[in-house]
Amino acid sequence: MKISDSIVKAINEQIKAEYDSAYIYLAMSAYFEDQGLKGMAHWMKKQYAEEVEHAEKFVNYLYERGARVIIPEIAKPKDDYNDALDVFQTAYKHEQYVTSRIYNLVEQAVNEKDYATQSFLKWYVDEQMEEEDNTSSIVNQLEFLGNDKHSVYMIDRELASR
Ligand code: FEO
Repeated sequence: MKISDSIVKAINEQIKAEYDSAYIYLAMSAYFEDQGLKGMAHWMKKQYAEEVEHAEKFVNYLYERGARVIIPEIAKPKDDYNDALDVFQTAYKHEQYVTSRIYNLVEQAVNEKDYATQSFLKWYVDEQMEEEDNTSSIVNQLEFLGNDKHSVYMIDRELASR
């Protein structure tokens, strides 16, 4: 069954959202490098790579369905933050936003009775649950330990092992 133009358009928009996410995390990584927080920089660099994978998975899906992929312009990310807590709170909020986008895509696929796209999107639904959990746990840790230099340094060392 041919994929609809509206689903192709929505997935192309999501490809942009995933590349935008990648750049947001790359900028967060650069911020942490500048702060001397190598573990957090490493964690964000891995997150950047994951977002590129998310984008490519959508790209390949459209190829498989014989649809046209439009490689998007990537938005310039924010490059300054107050502190580590501010960065991870922003990352958590961003993941909640991405989850809402994925849910909208699922809804659209359900409304259009596009069962292949519904099945494909299940991976992203699960992935978003994990991404929200990962970022919110770091926010909780920073809030619990106090977001002072000592706590940030401890969490930085822990995040180096991602
Ligand atoms: Fe691709 Fe972090 O959502």
